[in-house]
Amino acid sequence: MSRPTRDRQPVPDRSGDLLRREVAGVDLLEIARDFGTPTYLYDAATIRERISRLRDFDVIRYAQKANSNLAVLDLVRREGALVDAVSAGEIHRALAAGFPATGSPAPIVYTADIFDRPALEAVAAHGIAVNCGSPDMIDQYADRVPGGEITLRINPGFGHGHSRKTNTGGEHSKHGIWHEELESAVARARGRGLSVSGVHTHIGSGADFEHLSRVADSLMEFARRVGPSVASVSAGGGLPVPYRRGDPEIDPRAYFEVFDRARRALERDLGRPVSLEIEPGRYLVAEAGFLLTEVRAVKRMGSNLFYLVDAGFNDLARPVLYGAYHPMRLVPATGEAPRELREVVVGGPLCESGDIFTQEEGGFVRRERLPEARVGDFLLIEVAGAYAFTMSSNYNSRPRAAEILVREGKAHLVRARESLDDLIRGEVIPAD
Ligand code: LLP
Repeated sequence: MSRPTRDRQPVPDRSGDLLRREVAGVDLLEIARDFGTPTYLYDAATIRERISRLRDFDVIRYAQKANSNLAVLDLVRREGALVDAVSAGEIHRALAAGFPATGSPAPIVYTADIFDRPALEAVAAHGIAVNCGSPDMIDQYADRVPGGEITLRINPGFGHGHSRKTNTGGEHSKHGIWHEELESAVARARGRGLSVSGVHTHIGSGADFEHLSRVADSLMEFARRVGPSVASVSAGGGLPVPYRRGDPEIDPRAYFEVFDRARRALERDLGRPVSLEIEPGRYLVAEAGFLLTEVRAVKRMGSNLFYLVDAGFNDLARPVLYGAYHPMRLVPATGEAPRELREVVVGGPLCESGDIFTQEEGGFVRRERLPEARVGDFLLIEVAGAYAFTMSSNYNSRPRAAEILVREGKAHLVRARESLDDLIRGEVIPAD
């Protein structure tokens, strides 16, 4: 099967693009001046547009682990999407952003492979729907919520992702209920008085069209094996986004059609309507996000020229974790004079040699072509709206970055930069 791609926009002039100082109508120098760096920016219009591409699906369930800022959750909710939660904390966020706890379809679904105690507590207290990824979850839920209704996350025995670490299918993955154990999981649920109202499969993140499409047949087969109690099927998330120029883009229409066709056949077999869900994280937010950093040192190490910026892998961990590629743009602090291109290595401030944004999986340093930079210029790291701030940490005792939502050309601070006192909040020196 050939891989459908979206019609390409004309490729912009890269040299001009590498120096552009505006994002979604806001001036990056003004952002740096008003809010400091490092700072994340999210473009609301891009998120809205990505949601609109998936409207064929009955339910768009946003996987908030990609970006769970309350303002992003609120935006997604206003656009009619529902939400996924993987922890008590994500349930708390969803409620704080205005998602109701209950409803049909379930506004919030807890999908995980375990209930830690706070999550089980939150699910029971608020009546949150659950998607069980292990037989133990079925028992624990039945104990807490007798007579309830669940869906099952099934591991279909195959998976795919942009990295081995984001492949969630197959027997090396901890995720889901093994496909051969579906019948015993259903029997377990029914034996405990629970009904199974849906099946769900998510094979990985950043998978390609062929692998994602294979899920459709497996998913419907699982639904048939559960039988007519099934009212919904979820295709999971994992839709890829183009990080590099020229990366293939998925055609959402073609993707929907693969699942819709399989869903319609299932409806005929079960004799009832079945709702079709999709659960994207990255697809909705990755391209909407940018990390603005300041260049603080430019130095040479033998044949390598390093730009060292004030954001590190504490802010954006994807390069060090997966060798992930993020496009970058230089924002000169003064003037727009043409600057020569250089082959450079871009690193951060952390006291750790892996703190490099230009690296391949395995830690091999690579070079990026960027205009000549001076201290005080800014560097914009792009396609940084997903798994960026949400995976950030305080390593090296660095406060987490500020976050800004840009709406109709106006920048709104939606998370204040952490303070130095935030870093030590809750810590105590025991009395002698
Ligand atoms: N549904 C389930 C059950 C998931 O486990 C995930 C992602 C998603 C949906 C959303 O996947 P997406 O559409 O965003 O690919 N930190 C990695 C990604 C880890 C994804 C974990 N689960 C990264 O930065 O690429």
